[in-house]
Parts: sequence; structure tokens; C-alpha cells
Amino acid sequence: MQDDDLPLLFELFESTPRQGPGSVASTHRALTLLPDGMRIERVLDLGCGTGASTLVLAEDTGAQITAVDIHPPFLETLRGRAAERGVAGRITTLVADMSDTDVLGDGYDLVWAEGSAYNIGFTNALRLWRPLLRPGGCLVVSELVWFTAEPAARAVEFFTEHYPEMGDEAQRLGDAREAGYEVLGSFRLPPGDWHAYYDGVDEALQDAVRRHGEREIYAATRLEKEIYAACGDDYGYVCLALRVPE
Ligand SMILES: C[S@@+](CC[C@H](N)C(=O)[O-])C[C@H]1O[C@@H](n2cnc3c(N)ncnc32)[C@H](O)[C@@H]1O
Repeated sequence: MQDDDLPLLFELFESTPRQGPGSVASTHRALTLLPDGMRIERVLDLGCGTGASTLVLAEDTGAQITAVDIHPPFLETLRGRAAERGVAGRITTLVADMSDTDVLGDGYDLVWAEGSAYNIGFTNALRLWRPLLRPGGCLVVSELVWFTAEPAARAVEFFTEHYPEMGDEAQRLGDAREAGYEVLGSFRLPPGDWHAYYDGVDEALQDAVRRHGEREIYAATRLEKEIYAACGDDYGYVCLALRVPE
């Protein structure tokens, strides 16, 4: 992707219900992997987008949440949604780069990153985010991985271009242990979580092409969706729940 395509990609997802695969049910399921009775008072949601997971975390944990994203319009939408749901008082938004650890704070009980770690490299994210957690604090992170050792050639070709560092589940669990986390559990996001992500994308693409003309990033998004429809059994997101030892 060219650098000047990134703002267009962000804009494309301003009107969609979420910016990456996921669902309320999967956010709930990830919460169940955390230790019983764990203290969750301060949460950091990195790459929160318009807040699909942030709102669930605010409602389910009652914690104070710092919701971070690099694209201000996503956070504006999140603030509106939080006000509608009566949780605005528990969510502080912060426009920041998720790798800029000097501005993110520390001592968090929980760091959450649904579908966003890849932006700064998965292993880099694990390493940078560990010091943001208190001892015994947890990181929940979802990551795109291969589900099979022999994925379809079309999918390999696409992701070799768009996400060359893509690994498999065993590799990502190994990365987490190597970065000093205990693995509490993991699960694959179900296909419905992808449909929720693509919900509204066709309409957003049509609007975007009307505004900016045909662009490489729009063709890549269409192709990504087609490849998921054809080869979506071969890859997907794994959600990992990790803990920093006491
Ligand atoms: C795939 S979306 C996931 C959004 C949200 N967590 C969800 O599940 O709907 C990735 C998000 O990361 C944000 N992002 C990308 N690079 C970032 C960075 N360097 N720092 C902070 N946010 C970033 C994007 O704006 C986008 O909202």
C-alpha cells in the first residue's frame, strides 16, 4: 500500500460498524479467558477504531478505559456512541500512535488490541506493550494467521504482498511466550466476525469511488473481500489472552 493510500483506507471505514473482524460475542469470550476475579479498573484499548470493543469493555468491566487511535474521526464517533450508551464518563479518547509508549501511560490492568497489533508488527507490539501492564496484568490481542499449512495460492499471493509477516497460531503463541507472557488461552474468531467487518464495506467503497475516483486501495479492499469469500477457511484471526507474571 502506498503511504498516501492510508488516509483513504481510514476514511473508507469511518461509516462501517467496525474496522476489523470481531463481534460482541468474541469480545465477551476473550474476557472469559482472564483469571477469575481479576482486578480490572484501568484498561487501555489500542487501535480502538470507532469503539466496537471499547463499548463492550466499558459495559462489562465497569473500568476506566483509555481508547487510543491514530485517526481522530474514529474517536469522535466513539465518543458519540459512548454518550448514547451512557458510558462516556468511563472512556477517555487519546489520539496517539500505539507504538508511542511515552504517551500511553502504564500500570494498566488490561491492554486490549483487537485486530490492530499488525500495524506496528505483532512481535514489536508484544514487546512494547508489556511494560504498560502491572505485574499480573493481561493483554488481549487478535492477529491474522494461517489456519492451514497449505493455504490457497490466491490467498498466499495476496498476503505476501499485503502482510508478508503473517504467521500461524503456533508461531504467535511462541512469540507471546518469548516476549515474557503466560498464555491464558486462545480461540479462532468465527466466520461471522468477518461478515460483521465487511458489513457496509460495499456501500462505503461506492461512496469513496464517487468522491475520489478509483484507487489502488479500493481495488485491494475489494480483492481482500473476494479472497475471504473464496479461501476464508485457510486463514483468520486468532485471539490470544496473555498475562504478565506477578
Ligand atoms: C483493523 S482496525 C481495528 C479497529 C477495532 N479494534 C475493531 O476491532 O473494530 C485497526 C485500527 O488501528 C488504528 N491504527 C492503525 N495504525 C495505528 C497506530 N500506529 N496507532 C494507533 N492506531 C492505529 C486504525 O485507525 C484502526 O482503527
